[in-house]
Amino acid sequence: MHSLQLLFRASAGTLLLVLCLQLGTSKAQEDTRAVIMNVQVPKKAEANQEITLKLNLQTELKECLVCKIYLRSNITMDGPFNYVYTSCLCEDYPRNIYWDFRPNRTMAIAAVVDITREENICPNDEAVIPIKANRYYIMEVLVSSVQ
Ligand SMILES: *[C@@H]1O[C@H](CO)[C@@H](O)[C@H](O)[C@H]1NC(C)=O
Ligand SMILES: *[C@@H]1O[C@H](CO)[C@@H](O)[C@H](O)[C@H]1NC(C)=O
Repeated sequence: MHSLQLLFRASAGTLLLVLCLQLGTSKAQEDTRAVIMNVQVPKKAEANQEITLKLNLQTELKECLVCKIYLRSNITMDGPFNYVYTSCLCEDYPRNIYWDFRPNRTMAIAAVVDITREENICPNDEAVIPIKANRYYIMEVLVSSVQ
């Protein structure tokens, strides 16, 4: 959480650099591909227009993962934007998660997945925790005018 907050305080240039560095360092882990994230969100929205952010999650691990899934932004948002989902992610069972919200300013959004150790989420609690990274995220910028 802390590093994400720092990320959002950084300027756009630094942000890009940080992301590139992180992409670079995570290359070694690409073989495993524990969490694969795809975001669908409009690039632009009218101020206060309701939009839907769709997050698609997949894993290539044989074991299931307990995922805590949420959004973060560099502006404060109330309501459904803050919903946190806990879900079991298994191979061959991709998940789609949706958030509906009304952006009123241009915002950077991070969709974040934390691999956790919560019980009673995966069947028979047969879930693993990857040893290396246990937080995955993807960033999008949504352009919206101030009202
Ligand atoms: C924008 O939306 C946020 C969260 O919904 C709200 O807290 C804020 O007051 C809004 N800002 C404006 C300028 O409407
Ligand atoms: C949030 O991030 C976006 C995209 O980088 C930027 O355009 C916007 O000015 C930022 N807003 C704040 C309040 O920092």
